[in-house]
Amino acid sequence: MDISDIDLLSGEAFVDRVPHEWFDHLRANAPIYKHPEPNGPGFWAFTKHEDVAQLNRMWHEFSSEQSRGGVVGIEELDAEAAEAQAEFNEAGRMMLTMDPPDHTRYRKLVNRGFTPKAIRSLEDHLRDIAVKIIDRAIATDDGQADFVTDIAAELPLEAIAEFLGVPSEDRHKIFDWSNRMIGSEDPEYMVGEEAVTEARVEMFMYAHALAEDRRTNPRDDIVSTLIHSEVDGDRLSEMDFNLFFLLLSVAGNETTRNAMSHGMAALLEHPEQYQMMVEDPGAIPTAIEEVLRWASPVMYFRRNATEDLEYKGHQIREGDKVSLWYISANRDEDVFDRPHTFDITRDPNPHIAFGGGGPHFCLGANLARMEMKIMFEELTRRVSKIESLQSPDRLQSNFINGIKHLPVQLIAK
Ligand code: HEM
Repeated sequence: MDISDIDLLSGEAFVDRVPHEWFDHLRANAPIYKHPEPNGPGFWAFTKHEDVAQLNRMWHEFSSEQSRGGVVGIEELDAEAAEAQAEFNEAGRMMLTMDPPDHTRYRKLVNRGFTPKAIRSLEDHLRDIAVKIIDRAIATDDGQADFVTDIAAELPLEAIAEFLGVPSEDRHKIFDWSNRMIGSEDPEYMVGEEAVTEARVEMFMYAHALAEDRRTNPRDDIVSTLIHSEVDGDRLSEMDFNLFFLLLSVAGNETTRNAMSHGMAALLEHPEQYQMMVEDPGAIPTAIEEVLRWASPVMYFRRNATEDLEYKGHQIREGDKVSLWYISANRDEDVFDRPHTFDITRDPNPHIAFGGGGPHFCLGANLARMEMKIMFEELTRRVSKIESLQSPDRLQSNFINGIKHLPVQLIAK
């Protein structure tokens, strides 16, 4: 392979599968690679586990700040998109695109909503929902279902909605908004900048109304905690809350849905491993870590160099764009034995699907793990066997490793 064949900007290259042969080539030949770009200065692609984890921690040199370029999207924006982005930036900042110390203050505030106790308090409700979702899928169409839309999509949506106190009749709005905001490259969700902005505005209005309600009628829920809590004299402003609502809706739904769907797709190819989980539910927590490694639902995040520096002999300049490829780090042969083999017994499994540590380590990691555990526990309790009816229909994106549809046959116990 010639390195110039590699085009990490091409959403199309990611349609049929993740181009792992590109990442294998980069890790072996150019682990720190200045990737060219037709209408821009190019960007660094980091593909080794050690470097991705290291740069995640070097927030001072590799910034997440929105004003420096943020973390989502590595391609130069055209004039229209740049304008829309500038407008959005003016509205306020999300924690995802802040550096310490601002990020630290913000994270302290929202951490109050993500205590282990708060997460555990959702478990019984989410288990009831998972049982309903699975029973309904078994009972409909003789057990023929779309694993993504009928099963995997529902639980993360319920979790975020329950977490934020969104009433059940409004829950599908969140699904629709987050699809519109993230899948804009994919023809099925192709919506253009205008509709993305529209989805944001609708979501902000919704978040605003929810916060207003809790301001006057505080309840024992996270929204009430968030809007009333104060850390070192800081409070969440209205726009902070709107942006947090947006961040959770997007970050918490797509990712967990795709992790479950990729897990299912891999288990369909390895039915003996599904059988192991049916026979021994104790195998599920380890299996989930392998699903996370295998899926790497967020394929990369961006950083932006804040100064000229040398890293492992490469001269990086202030303002350079940097991409951290979790999907590649999670298949690094220096860290994982037989990295391209799906093995639910893999242990230890130091994957970095939730980020490589550092200040932005996924806030929802424990919630996502709990949702996946509940889903696979209840599925293996009820469904003895699952067969594939059609190969997975993938999302066209180089950012989210997504599956849109996965038709399956469920065979109940
Ligand atoms: C399998 C599911 C998930 C995956 C793979 C995932 C992945 C990630 C990754 C890689 C980051 C690091 C971002 C960076 O370094 O710039 C992150 C951050 C974040 N995630 Fe997740 N996530 C998942 C589920 C969730 C859930 C369920 C929630 C919310 C309930 C959530 C909320 C967040 C938030 C708020 C941040 C930003 C944290 C910060 O900036 O300090 N995620 N996630």
